[in-house]
Amino acid sequence: MKIIDTCGAPPPADGRVEAREKVTGSGKYAAEYPVEEVCYGVFAVSTLAAGKLKSVKVEKAKEAEGVIEILTHLNKPVVSGFSDETKIRESRLGLAVFHTDRIFFKGQPIALVVARTLEEATYAASLVEGEYEAGPFELDFDKARRKATLASTGREKGSPEAWSQAAATVEAEYTIAAEIHNPMEMHATIAHWVAADRLKLYDKNQGVNNVQRTVGRVFEIPAENIEVFSEFVGGGFGSGLRVWSNTLAAAMAAKMVKRPVKLMLTRPQMFMLTGYRPASWQKVKLGADREGRFLGGWHQAMNGTSTYEDFNEWITGVTRLIYHIPNLKTEGALVPLNLSTPTWMRGPGDCTGDFAIESAIDELSYVLNMDPVALRLKNTAIDKHPNNGLPWSTNYMNECIETGARMIGWEKRPSKPLQLLEGDWATGYGMAVGAWNAGRGYASAGIVMQKDGSVSVRTAMTDIGTGTGTGMRNIAHEVTGIPKNRITIELGHSSLPAAPSQGGSTGLSSVSGAVVAVSNDLKTRLAEYAAGINPAFQGLKADEVQLTDKGIALKTNPGAVVSYHQIWEKNDLKSLELEASSGPGEERQKFAFCSTSAHFAKLRVNRRTGRVKVEKYVCVADGGKIINAQAAANQMSGAVTGGIGMALMEEMLIDARVGGLIANDLAGYHFAVNADTPVIEVAFINKPDVNINPSGAKGLGEVGIIGVAAAITNAIYNATGKRLRDLPVTPDKIIA
Ligand code: MOS
Repeated sequence: MKIIDTCGAPPPADGRVEAREKVTGSGKYAAEYPVEEVCYGVFAVSTLAAGKLKSVKVEKAKEAEGVIEILTHLNKPVVSGFSDETKIRESRLGLAVFHTDRIFFKGQPIALVVARTLEEATYAASLVEGEYEAGPFELDFDKARRKATLASTGREKGSPEAWSQAAATVEAEYTIAAEIHNPMEMHATIAHWVAADRLKLYDKNQGVNNVQRTVGRVFEIPAENIEVFSEFVGGGFGSGLRVWSNTLAAAMAAKMVKRPVKLMLTRPQMFMLTGYRPASWQKVKLGADREGRFLGGWHQAMNGTSTYEDFNEWITGVTRLIYHIPNLKTEGALVPLNLSTPTWMRGPGDCTGDFAIESAIDELSYVLNMDPVALRLKNTAIDKHPNNGLPWSTNYMNECIETGARMIGWEKRPSKPLQLLEGDWATGYGMAVGAWNAGRGYASAGIVMQKDGSVSVRTAMTDIGTGTGTGMRNIAHEVTGIPKNRITIELGHSSLPAAPSQGGSTGLSSVSGAVVAVSNDLKTRLAEYAAGINPAFQGLKADEVQLTDKGIALKTNPGAVVSYHQIWEKNDLKSLELEASSGPGEERQKFAFCSTSAHFAKLRVNRRTGRVKVEKYVCVADGGKIINAQAAANQMSGAVTGGIGMALMEEMLIDARVGGLIANDLAGYHFAVNADTPVIEVAFINKPDVNINPSGAKGLGEVGIIGVAAAITNAIYNATGKRLRDLPVTPDKIIA
């Protein structure tokens, strides 16, 4: 295990594969591709939260300088996949942009102004006016949820009566405000029809093959006719897992004006057009015997959705993942609101549910007068998946907890609040755990070797900043022996070997198997060629040879080398190209897989101002084998920073009376930055899971944030004695 201080660590000599392009600005993000004849699209959006769009007044805008065309629901070229209600439903896109006259939320696109320049399009869009028939709207989640009906979200275990006599019980309600991904890079698309049925898309997203398939479905053209470039992605956090209106509208407009159209959303537009984590309400009841063994749980949860599409965050899933709870009931409901459809965001579902469960367990620990660490260790389901009963392939949750406790100095935690006081400041310690079902998708990877021994490793998967490309390079180096500086990575393009979207902590887990497979194929192929030159290579397996910068060598006798030069000459090769695929198999029937984390916070609370200062933060995670320690630690500390924002700051502020958002920009929406966090100490168990995939890596992103919010609010309780159950915990709630 290695403890990594992510601040001040020198960059390793073999740093990230894309570092130079990112630092020098030569790497191209979606909106940065130079495309000849490109013109600019800017959305005009609804000023009403609900109703019907009678007409759109575009006359003034049309006269503005530089305007080429204005697309509305009245003049759009009908997209075949949106031609009737059934098809719209089957498109699974929710909002059929410009193919409806219904208004579902304030901020919904009502026109796309296309002009010669961005400035001209922006100005003209400000002149567009909708004529509406106003309808009733609802944006008050707390009010609307009272009308929702809960339904079961999983098999009920045991019975509620079985634990009615539990020695200790807690019951409480928790809420979390809606939050917005806010990646640094704006969602943007350049759409270019190179033929009537062939489309090029430079698009910000988390999965080029998903964009291909989705856009193909909507325009009813074969997916392979759509070429998608997403080589550099400036963050996503889930917002890039769907295809949104900007991509479709740009493609529609480009068809209409017969020129490439660039459409980049503004930051305020991103608050309503690229998803968000929905507002949620939860109620948890938990009971334990005198020794702290959980006897029963009842978890109810509701999340907001839109009025035109259901989005279920599956908040209660995590309650069936971490602990043995012999009698368990989980329920959920959706609450339609006049907002756009929410989507997956950073640890979706688990992160939300975990806040309530891990808070309730902390509450229970005080009722039992028991250390929260000991209480958890007594109940963690480390032998088997508590829901499906399959044995875990690996589960190091308890090690995460024990290591984290050591690192934070848990023995200094006072067992009661208000013990560590210094003037207005109260100090407290808090902890919580997180878990995520570790998935794996079916992915392909290719390798191309040149005569000089350099290779390119490639896949369509995007790298949204997590370090997937660097991880691929490291794996290819480890398997083949080719020096890292002779390996380049190509990704984020639809013509490369197909791969799933990057999300749900499955990126490296999915693609690593394919990289291992194709790296081994390269070795055996080269061994076959080498055998034609030196018979010692006859019939060798991949692990009996290794590759150097010069040629292929025997592992047992590294002096015996056949050079690439010889192989290329003898076989008259131009380059050597291989592709392999890999995906989940029957191991999924034998084992359950999870990544886990333990979070520990030490913080100070100013009891007069309500200010919270996180002084020390420790995150210990099990993500299987760590392929790239620095990138992995980076991802964890970034996720923790996001979690601190979730706990203390992030909130989509809604004005339910006017039906819209209050502060849809980075001045009004606060998230945590480095100044709000201490040095976040990250440690990994770093033991390979030999069953999940050939690399042994299980995936990490989500468990970095799942557990953070509860660790923070539990520490605030330990400091002040205030139990805060509504996120974000802003200073006003602390001093109230
Ligand atoms: Mo994410 S919600 O794993 O992009």
